[in-house]
Order: sequence, then structure tokens, then C-alpha cells
Amino acid sequence: MKRQSIVNSKVLVVGGAGFIGSHLVDKLIAEGANQVLIIDNLFIGKRENLNQALKKGAILYVDDAENQEALGYILEKYDIDIVFNCATKPLNYSFINPSNTYMTNVLVLKNLLELQRKKVFDTLCHFSSSEAYGSAQYQPMDEEHPLVPHTPYAAGKASADLLLQSYVSMFELDAFLIRPFNNYGPRQNFEGSLAGVIPLTIKKILEKQAPEIHGAGKQTRDFIYVEDTVDIALKIFPIISPGECVNITTDQQLSIENVVKTIVNVMNYKGEVLKMPYRKADVLSHRGSVKKLQNMIGQYDKKPFKDGITETVNWIKDMS
Ligand SMILES: NC(=O)c1ccc[n+]([C@@H]2O[C@H](COP(=O)([O-])OP(=O)(O)OC[C@H]3O[C@@H](n4cnc5c(N)ncnc54)[C@H](O)[C@@H]3O)[C@@H](O)[C@H]2O)c1
Repeated sequence: MKRQSIVNSKVLVVGGAGFIGSHLVDKLIAEGANQVLIIDNLFIGKRENLNQALKKGAILYVDDAENQEALGYILEKYDIDIVFNCATKPLNYSFINPSNTYMTNVLVLKNLLELQRKKVFDTLCHFSSSEAYGSAQYQPMDEEHPLVPHTPYAAGKASADLLLQSYVSMFELDAFLIRPFNNYGPRQNFEGSLAGVIPLTIKKILEKQAPEIHGAGKQTRDFIYVEDTVDIALKIFPIISPGECVNITTDQQLSIENVVKTIVNVMNYKGEVLKMPYRKADVLSHRGSVKKLQNMIGQYDKKPFKDGITETVNWIKDMS
């Protein structure tokens, strides 16, 4: 199967005003997409994330992708070829509104698959998540690791993945999954209770509050810089087969304690770090296998963690 190239194509990024989606939009424009459309309900996403892209001709629709008519309208009006689905509600929103978090993860993809089945567009790249694996049953986790989600967010991600694979096998759609591990970098939400550990820690230090570690801080994650993720996603795009899934990870195992220490060092923070109770449903370990990714795209030089943290700190300072 020969897949259409990004160059000169018309692309829709669902959830494209968010963290990863907005970097993807910038990258698609830089790679020579003919037209980039974005649909985002701005639940977490921000118009400012698209400032550069909108100046370069990208078009933003503020609308809900859970509404199939809204999606269908844009896809048909602009004769879209390729869709990237980055829409989601944050993992932490699972604690507040579990059913809505689950439903967003499933419904948006269900709508896209239905439209693709009706041949409204050609290719679908769906962003899965390492959260779908749950706690590691073996390490490093390859793409064959069972899906044992621990949160409604993760259950929604795992359900969506299975739905996509079932549509590919029944209807022969050109749809595939990329499964990133934890991302960090500029434009990650740093406000309120939905923020992730890196932006939250940076923000607290900037506001002269003590940063926090939940539990012993020994829980580990692979952290990958957001621009590396979108770069890898576009390298995979021409070569991944329909129905296939590939991890996007750097095999860089970092404990939360280490992450907080790096931020403390970069920001030259001298105060205390608070120990908070362990959070239920926090997975203890998340080390992804990079083997399949390396077989596909070769060795990849990721951004060093300290450099990525420095860029993230500078961005949050600018935005605060
Ligand atoms: N950030 C990470 O560490 C990470 C890790 C693994 C996988 N992922 C996956 O990557 C994708 C992008 O994640 P992100 O970190 O950029 O999240 P994000 O929350 O920053 O972006 C998601 C975007 O979707 C939008 N959205 C939510 N509901 C919507 C709806 N009903 N209609 C239209 N837009 C809607 C939000 O406003 C937001 O802009 C998601 O699929 C996520 O599961 C993220």
C-alpha cells in the first residue's frame, strides 16, 4: 500500500490546540502540508498554542469532535486527506469526571472511524498512550504487552485502540496507532489540578511554593520531549502498516524523584520538597521498549532531559 505523503496533503489535527497536537501542527506546516485544519473544543487546548500556525495559514475550528456532524463538515468542506487524532481529556480529569474522560477518548475516535469507513478521508493516525498498558508486567514493555488500564482515562485509550484495530480488520481502513510514553515540554498545561508533574513542579517553584512528590518518588516514567515525539510520528507515518501500533519512547527511565531533582537544579531552588501521600492508580513503573521503533526509523538522538527541562522552564516563565 502506498500512503499519500504529508507534503501537499490536506490534514486535520483533532485536539490540535493542545500540547502535542499544536507541536504536530507546526511540524506538519514545516514539512510542507498544503493545508492544516484544527478542531479543538479548547477544554485544555489554547488558541495561543497555535499563534505561529494560524499566522502561516492554519485554520482553527473551536468545536466538539464528539459531534460527528462537526467533524464531517470540516472533513468534507476542506476535502481532507489525512487525520491525526490527538483529542483527549487529561488523565487527572479521570479522578473528577471518570465517565466523560473515558467517553471522549472513545467517542472522538469512533466518529473518525465511521467517517473514514464512509471514505470521507484516506488515512488516520491515532495517538494512543502508554497508560493503556497499566503497570508493567515485564520490562521493557513492547507493543505485545497486555492492555491492563488502571484509570478510566487509560481504559478509554485502550478501548479506542481496540476499536481502531477492529475497524481496520473489518473494513480495511488505512488507520494506525502510535503509542507515546510521557511527554514534556513547552505548551503542556501548567494550570490547576489537571497539570502533570513537570509543569506543576516548575509552576510551584516559580510561585515560591514547595514542590511535591507523591509517595516515595520511586515510581518511574519514560519522559520524551514533545518535539521528538512529533518528529518521530512523522518519520513513522510513511512506513507503518494499517492496524499496527508502535511505542514512541526514548527508553529513558526516570524516577519522579529524579525528575523533581532535575527541575530543582535547573531552577536553582533551595527550599524543601514536600512528601505527599501515594496517589491511588499511579502506575509504579513505565519502561517502554524502543526496539520496534528503532527497527523502523533507526537510532534516534533524543533531546537530553536537562535541556528539555530548561526549555520548558523558560516557556512557563514567559507565560506566567
Ligand atoms: N502528554 C503526554 O504525556 C501523552 C503521553 C502519551 C499519549 N498521549 C496522547 O497524545 C494525545 C495528545 O495529548 P496531549 O498531551 O497533547 O493532551 P492535551 O490535553 O494537551 O490535548 C488534547 C486536546 O484535545 C482537546 N479536546 C478534548 N476534548 C475534545 C473534544 N471533545 N473535541 C475537540 N477537542 C477536544 C483539548 O482541548 C486539548 O487541546 C492524546 O491522545 C494523549 O492520550 C499524551
